[in-house]
Amino acid sequence: MIKSIIFSLFFSWVLIPVTLISQTANPIIVNIDHSGAVIQPTMWGIFFEDINFAADGGIYAELVKNRSFEFFKPLMGWKILKPDTTSGILIINQSSTNPANPRYARISIAEGEPAFGLSNAGFRGMGIKKGMTYHFSVLVRQLEGSTLKMHIGLVNSKGEVIGTADLAPEARQWKKYTVSFAATVTEPKAKLNIWFEGRGSFDIDMISLFPDDTWKNRPGGLRADLVQLLADLKPGFLRFPGGCIVEGRDLDNRYQWKNTIGNIEDRHLIVNRWNTEFAHRLTPDYFQSFGMGFFEYFQLAEDIGAEPLPILNCGMACEFNTAEVVPMDQLGPYIQDALDLIEFANASADSKWGKVRSQLGHPAPFNMKFIGVGNEQWGSQYIERYAAFTKAIKEKYPDIKIVTGTGPSPSGKDFDFAGRELKKLNAQIVDEHYYANPEWFLQNATRYDNYDRNSYRIFAGEYAAQSKFTCSPDNQNNWKCALSEAAFMTGLERNADVVYMCSYAPLFAHVDAWQWTPDLIWFDNLKSLGTANYYVQKLFSNNKGTEVLPMLLENKPLTGQNGLFASAAFDKNSNEIILKLVNSSEKAQTANIVLEGNKKLMSKAKVIVLKSENVNTVNSLEQPALISPVEQELIIKGKKINKILDPYSFSIVRIKVLK
Ligand code: AHR
Repeated sequence: MIKSIIFSLFFSWVLIPVTLISQTANPIIVNIDHSGAVIQPTMWGIFFEDINFAADGGIYAELVKNRSFEFFKPLMGWKILKPDTTSGILIINQSSTNPANPRYARISIAEGEPAFGLSNAGFRGMGIKKGMTYHFSVLVRQLEGSTLKMHIGLVNSKGEVIGTADLAPEARQWKKYTVSFAATVTEPKAKLNIWFEGRGSFDIDMISLFPDDTWKNRPGGLRADLVQLLADLKPGFLRFPGGCIVEGRDLDNRYQWKNTIGNIEDRHLIVNRWNTEFAHRLTPDYFQSFGMGFFEYFQLAEDIGAEPLPILNCGMACEFNTAEVVPMDQLGPYIQDALDLIEFANASADSKWGKVRSQLGHPAPFNMKFIGVGNEQWGSQYIERYAAFTKAIKEKYPDIKIVTGTGPSPSGKDFDFAGRELKKLNAQIVDEHYYANPEWFLQNATRYDNYDRNSYRIFAGEYAAQSKFTCSPDNQNNWKCALSEAAFMTGLERNADVVYMCSYAPLFAHVDAWQWTPDLIWFDNLKSLGTANYYVQKLFSNNKGTEVLPMLLENKPLTGQNGLFASAAFDKNSNEIILKLVNSSEKAQTANIVLEGNKKLMSKAKVIVLKSENVNTVNSLEQPALISPVEQELIIKGKKINKILDPYSFSIVRIKVLK
């Protein structure tokens, strides 16, 4: 009896899966000698937007929120400690003399009173690491006759002190004071307390705290773990600063790059347009300090080997919001911003804007090749403005490639109109956005197979499969979505003669402060994780290849036959054939692949597999690697490959060509 139970258990594990494995009836043929379309170095890139606390509270490592008292409510993020004394705080507005940094705080302590304090809550707390050095800085000016001592203390969520330092500012003119100290405990939600002791009045501004371990240890720099995740993508380009943030809810709050460079205290803070965009995810404490400004974006692009792709406002505010449009006869300053940006990025240090770049610490040009005009605009007003920008840019900088857009939807009246008009204007690279359900992504793996080869090139600038619906707060970065994106991306790669650039969107989300989901990378104050979608992007980008190889089943590309999607590339740098295979079905399948051609191949191939049996699986901060790449080896017999594709799996096969 027991024997027969063991027997049947054994066979239910061993035999049934084998019988479930279906085979592609005919072989999949890859012509390995055929030199197909060139895959652009920019093919897979990054879309950066300050949404979900991506910049302030995210990659920009500043830990103090509202450091300069510039939020709509000047003390938002701050709590007064010991308010029961006559000591007090007054917010002073100096906008007539200093419009870039209009507010500061005046603290007054009466003789004999105990200390007065301020506590900053950070961006949903401050992530503090045991043993790490923290750099505190503040601008202080003492008024006549006052004496002042400052005690700085980090406290954990129980109120216990986990790091302290003292300062004794004396200057009667504004002066920056700094002090560094180590934290004794790791704490994800610390607060910063500042106690003021003495008598008289003194002014304070730009209260700041940065960890020492920023990316490349740059003072006042970026969060290293988040930049590392970007660098690991080996991105071809970095698009910045968005997204709708470029447009602003109205034109006053549009992104203006010139306000985001130079002295940190002079970067005029504005509201973040995602602040109250969604009633279901209100974030009233979301502003743009521009600590992460255009110079930092260019520097980041350079650090991670990506082409910079700045997107500029084209004289139109977000059409989902005010849809404010600048009249054509007042568009000049907007166009001038674009021309000046090209000079800032590319001209020698002798030029006006090249000199500014040089003074910021980058004498060599950034060698920018692309510029985007407008984000996600639609309608005739956009076409008119795009045409004016293009004329001016091309007259002065004929080699700069201009990226334009077709609006928020990948089909329909507005999309068709934009496509027609942009063709007439000989547009070069056109941005298409797709936020749709996973089925759309599977069905659209053929989207570019029949696109006009004699027209513009495509920038798939924002895409992400939505498990519920676009803007639903319940959308998940689940495996079903990620796998459908992988299937779709085989179609992008197969059509690399048309598709030049692609990026998932949005990029970052703070687990306690997001507005939009799904997102590629999630983080809290200490940790970060790549979603399943992140690993799909990473596998495509890290296994890009330099030219497309034809990969056909019964003379047709694999675009969903039996749930299979595939593409192939040759990488002339590493001399490898790279196959990408997606099995979107619930059944294991054997792909019989024949590599046709004269090239001699190594008999062992490297395989990287991303999979989950459960399409609802989601990586989380607690379980960050539920879906993550696993490497295997595969033996090639002659030029034949029998690759078992697990249910719901995405596999990369890399085969070395022998010299
Ligand atoms: O990625 C989020 C938003 O989606 C972008 O800001 C916008 O361009 C699109 O509508």
